Amino acid sequence: MAMRMLVILLLVCIAEAQLHGIKNFNVNDYGAIADGNTDNSGAFLKAWSDACKWNGKAILEIPRGTYMLNLIVFSGPCKGWTIFQLQGVLKAPINNPSSENTWINFRYINNLILNGGGLLDGQGPSVWGHKNPHPLLITMGFGFINNSYVHRISYINSQNAHISMLECRNMTFTDITVTAPKDSPNTDGIKMAKSEGININNVHIGTGDDCIAILSGTKNLTISNVYCGPGHGISVGSIGKNDEDVDVQNIFVKNCTFNGTSDGLRIKTWASPLNHTVKVSNIFYEDITIIDVDHPINIDQEYCPSRNCDNKVPSNVQISNVHYKNIQGSCKGEVAVNFKCSESNPCQNITGVNINLWSSLGNKTTLTNYCSHVKGAFYGKQVPPSCV
Ligand SMILES: *[C@@H]1O[C@H](CO)[C@@H](O)[C@H](O)[C@H]1NC(C)=O
Ligand SMILES: *[C@@H]1O[C@H](CO)[C@@H](O)[C@H](O)[C@H]1NC(C)=O
Ligand SMILES: *[C@@H]1O[C@H](CO)[C@@H](O)[C@H](O)[C@H]1NC(C)=O
Ligand SMILES: *[C@@H]1O[C@H](CO)[C@@H](O)[C@H](O)[C@H]1NC(C)=O
Ligand SMILES: *[C@@H]1O[C@H](CO)[C@@H](O)[C@H](O)[C@H]1NC(C)=O
Ligand SMILES: *[C@@H]1O[C@H](CO)[C@@H](O)[C@H](O)[C@H]1NC(C)=O
Ligand SMILES: *[C@@H]1O[C@H](CO)[C@@H](O)[C@H](O)[C@H]1NC(C)=O
Ligand SMILES: *[C@@H]1O[C@H](CO)[C@@H](O)[C@H](O)[C@H]1NC(C)=O
Repeated sequence: MAMRMLVILLLVCIAEAQLHGIKNFNVNDYGAIADGNTDNSGAFLKAWSDACKWNGKAILEIPRGTYMLNLIVFSGPCKGWTIFQLQGVLKAPINNPSSENTWINFRYINNLILNGGGLLDGQGPSVWGHKNPHPLLITMGFGFINNSYVHRISYINSQNAHISMLECRNMTFTDITVTAPKDSPNTDGIKMAKSEGININNVHIGTGDDCIAILSGTKNLTISNVYCGPGHGISVGSIGKNDEDVDVQNIFVKNCTFNGTSDGLRIKTWASPLNHTVKVSNIFYEDITIIDVDHPINIDQEYCPSRNCDNKVPSNVQISNVHYKNIQGSCKGEVAVNFKCSESNPCQNITGVNINLWSSLGNKTTLTNYCSHVKGAFYGKQVPPSCV
């Protein structure tokens, strides 16, 4: 009996050891060449395929050096944890040969880790402002990824958005930097849709578009210790133009800095007809530093960037329970707090405590606040005076 127990215990131990075994899959062993020119997607895919089959911790290692990589899809499900360890530099193609819009895609994976201190170079300056027959590339797309981490990775000059998530659950991003020029087109830092339980912490983003874009169906998102600038700030939306749009809720933005951005804390919805009402609710902003920002606090339910919106009707997005606490700093615009809410679905339960905003253009410029169709309560320090 005791012997049988021992054998069973031993077998369990062996199974455990196999499950937890770490194995390295170096892309160089699969024929990758770090000359900055050769397309390495074949070698990377072979390495991925083996790593994904490993029933333990598989480390897909990309050593130092510059690797050119064509469009690629790393697909799961995988057997164990997959660690994509980028130590080197990956370079995007400047002639997207396809109609796909994403350079590096991760899909259908549970327990993925990206780390290694490496860099993803989208080569944006070679494509921006040129006639490109095919889509400009999003650097990294995550689709249907669960329980995963991305940390110690840098992104530079993506042709389009840098990081895009769709249908992801429980993902954490820490120690990431994203850099692109202030005037680069559509270079969002991180954007997400239909994703739940995402954490973004200790991230530095300076680009030509949104720092973080929170799109349809995002829930339980925490953003903390994030620095944004230049760019367009942290945006909920735009939302409310497509009949497929669904609710956004439970968004926490804490201890963040906006420096030289056009917007800070923005919610934007289209003044467009929808077949149903979409809700944006439970949004918490706390301990926010504003430096030289045009529109630090902004709810715009008449969002229409190109000014040719057909069918302009009051927005069918219902915004409620939005809370601003300890927001301070300098503005380069004239309106500090702008609440332009929907006539048919006025903003409900918008509250503010300790908001202190002054002009960065000197004491002659006085800031004002603007309110329409907004209900709520503001208390504590309010500079300029609240209009809610
Ligand atoms: C991710 O989680 C969702 C919801 O729990 C589940 O339906 C899906 O199969 C998971 N995906 C993977 C790749 O594990
Ligand atoms: C989120 O993912 C991490 C990493 O896999 C895991 O340790 C943690 O338990 C997950 N949390 C939830 C709520 O599933
Ligand atoms: C979202 O948060 C709510 C309330 O805290 C919790 O009940 C729910 O499980 C969370 N969902 C995810 C996917 O993290
Ligand atoms: C707030 O963010 C800054 C910059 O990211 C960081 O240095 C500081 O430790 C954070 N404070 C707290 C209380 O987390
Ligand atoms: C609205 O349109 C979408 C997409 O066509 C559809 O999936 C949804 O069921 C519609 N909702 C209602 C309430 O009609
Ligand atoms: C804000 O940005 C300006 C211009 O890039 C820079 O000189 C300054 O140091 C930044 N301030 C902070 C607090 O990061
Ligand atoms: C306002 O929002 C807060 C936080 O979400 C919530 O606790 C409170 O019940 C809301 N009040 C109303 C009147 O909806
Ligand atoms: C604004 O006024 C305050 C107090 O009157 C003064 O201390 C400060 O230097 C002035 N700032 C500018 C930029 O003029």
